[in-house]
Amino acid sequence: MAAVTAATTAAVNVSMTVSMTTATTAALASDAGPPHTDAPGRVCPLRYRYGPQAIARADVREADTLYVVGGLYGNVPALDAIEAMARAESRAEGPAPTLCFNGDFNWFDVDDAAFAEINRRVLACDALLGNVEAELDAPGDDAGCGCAYPSSVDSGVVERSNLIHARLKATAARHPELLARIARLPMLARYRVADCRVGVVHGDAESLAGWRFDVAALDDPAERAWLGSVFEAADVDLFASTHTCLPAMRRLPTGSGREGCVVNNGAAGMPNFTGDAGGLITRIATTPSPHPVLGEVRVAGAWVALLPVRFDAPRWEREFLAQWPPGSPAWVSYFERITRGPAFSPAQAIGR
Ligand SMILES: [Fe+2]
Repeated sequence: MAAVTAATTAAVNVSMTVSMTTATTAALASDAGPPHTDAPGRVCPLRYRYGPQAIARADVREADTLYVVGGLYGNVPALDAIEAMARAESRAEGPAPTLCFNGDFNWFDVDDAAFAEINRRVLACDALLGNVEAELDAPGDDAGCGCAYPSSVDSGVVERSNLIHARLKATAARHPELLARIARLPMLARYRVADCRVGVVHGDAESLAGWRFDVAALDDPAERAWLGSVFEAADVDLFASTHTCLPAMRRLPTGSGREGCVVNNGAAGMPNFTGDAGGLITRIATTPSPHPVLGEVRVAGAWVALLPVRFDAPRWEREFLAQWPPGSPAWVSYFERITRGPAFSPAQAIGR
């Protein structure tokens, strides 16, 4: 499988990562001068901010096995595979896992049947807003896709994301009942699994579209003090996030001297690694994973793992192309990632 170029990687993320080297990041920057940070797709709306204290105050949901499914991106075959993984666990051990879709479960599903299918099945489970969903019923288009893309991301990527979201928004408007249910979703959730206190968010501890749980930020020494403080402020041992579209699992010291962990599943419905068509989800449970894991650690008594999602990739490619044919905005931005994967490796995700 050919390596994906940096330029291609720039075009792959709904919420484009800043996890590349400085040189790579510089190569991604627009040649049209610095982008306007209040432009659609760049802006992080004020209503996205909740702060870690809101996670500390949230009602606690108990779970023995929790799947955190971020970034499904309208991929029905991936949803089929995740539900089959949950059924396999319940057959083997008893109660079915709790599924929490922590946002951006819509994106490529502009076909009415696909949109209805994704949302009918996701809304039967626990679900949180991602920026994609948060902007579906926004009265204007000021925030575009709501991605809060950093300045390093090419303006073409941002413009195409706004075009994709505008088309999804038009589809959603034809499904007012689903749209009303999506609008009532929260931005965060709090769980307890074994003794592990878990905060589930879409972006980071501060904001729905925050980037501070991106793999680069998690490895940035300048972010260490903030990262240590938010475990205490949110009263959690573990944050489970998504949004940045690249996975990461990192153990981190907390302000109290305990060890915390941030796990970002990258994308459930898009490839996360070069040459690997599968998605990833996060599993948090009282027992080790019965499924193959990318990595698994213990956090406050819970088993925390990134699980590969082996969906029917040829079927997904056909369904994607039926909705986004060659030359369309999503094809230009994502088809290479869908078929080849991003320039990212499992070792980078696990931090080895
Ligand atoms: Fe997102």
